[in-house]
Amino acid sequence: MNEISARLLKWYDFHCRELPWRATRNPYYIWISEIILQQTRVSQGYDYFLRFIERFPTVESLAVAPEDDVMRMWQGLGYYSRARNLHAAAKQIVAMGHFPDTYESISSLKGVGDYTAAAIASFAYDIPKAAVDGNVCRLWARMFGIDDAIDTALGKQVISAVAQSLLPLNDAAKYNQASMEFGALQCIPRNPNCDVCPLSDKCVAYAEDRVGVLPVKSHKVKVTPRFLSYLYIHNEEMLLLRKRTAKDIWRNLYELVLIESADEMSEDAFLATPEFAAWQTRVGDNVYKGCVRGVKHVLSHRILHTSFYELEVHGKLVCPDGYVCIPFADLDHYALPRLIDKYLKNEKSPL
Ligand code: ADE
Repeated sequence: MNEISARLLKWYDFHCRELPWRATRNPYYIWISEIILQQTRVSQGYDYFLRFIERFPTVESLAVAPEDDVMRMWQGLGYYSRARNLHAAAKQIVAMGHFPDTYESISSLKGVGDYTAAAIASFAYDIPKAAVDGNVCRLWARMFGIDDAIDTALGKQVISAVAQSLLPLNDAAKYNQASMEFGALQCIPRNPNCDVCPLSDKCVAYAEDRVGVLPVKSHKVKVTPRFLSYLYIHNEEMLLLRKRTAKDIWRNLYELVLIESADEMSEDAFLATPEFAAWQTRVGDNVYKGCVRGVKHVLSHRILHTSFYELEVHGKLVCPDGYVCIPFADLDHYALPRLIDKYLKNEKSPL
C-alpha cells in the first residue's frame, strides 16, 4: 500500500468518530446517510438520520409513504430536492427488486451523483471506487499542490484520478471513510493544525507554505437576491398556507401567502400595493397587525430578503382556491421552510 494511504488508515484507527451509518453494511441506511450528508454537517444530520430510518425503516416503507410525510421528515434540512429524489429513487429500487449493487446501477438512482455512488458502493459492497467530496478535494489538492479549481471539470478530474490511484483495492470502504474524515477533522478549511498532521512531511502545500490558498475555487456561483413578502393571515384557530409548486426553492413545502417583488419594498410601499389590498378584501373581516422585516436568509446561491405582514381575521377565515386553512394544532404535520417555521414558532420575531 502507498505510504500516504497507509498513514491515513492508521490515523483513522485512532481518530474516527463512531457514527451510526458506519456501523452498518445495510445499503439502504448508507444511502440515506449519504444523501443527508451531501449538503449537511454530521452534527446536524445525525438526528435527522436516526429519525428518518425510524420512520422509514426499509426502502419499501419509504417508497409507499405519502410525499408530504417524506418532506415533513426533511423539514429544516434544506435542499429539499434531495427528499423528492430520495422518494423517487426508493420507488426505482423497489421496481428493481433489490438494492442496486454495482457502481453503475447505484449511479442510475435519482439524486445519486459520482461521489454518492462511490460512497455507497464502497461502504456497502467494498467496490473499489474513490469517493471524492469537498473534504477529500481539499486534502489531495493540498497534499499534491494541485492548482486546478476544484469546482471545475478539470479540477475534479485531476483530484479524482489522484484519489483513485491511492485507493488500496482491498480496503476501499475504510480508505474512503478515512480520507473524508481526515478532511473533516484534520485538514480543515481554515487554520488546520499542521503541527500534529501525520502527513505534513508529504504535503506540497505545507512545504511551499500554500495551505492557506489551496484548494483554489473559481467562484463562479452568482448570488442572486430575492425579495419575499409573506402574509401571515389567520384567525384564532387557523392560518392560511399554500403548497409551493414552482420548480425552485422549497418545492412541495408549505408556505404562507407569498408576494414576491423585484426590489426591496418599504412597509408603507408594500401596504399600498394592489396585491396587499386584494388579500385584505379576500379573506374576511381583518385588521393589519404589523410587520417583521429585514430577515435575511442565506442559501448557498441566494440571499432571501423576507418580510412578514400579519393580518388577523375576526370570525370566519375565507380560504381562496389553491390555499389551505390549517388549524394551529395541525401545523406539525406540514413541512415548512425553516424561516417560516421560525417566524411562526417565535410568534412573529424570527432570528
Ligand atoms: N460526509 C459524507 N459522507 C460521510 C460519512 N460517511 N461520514 C462522515 N461524513 C460524511
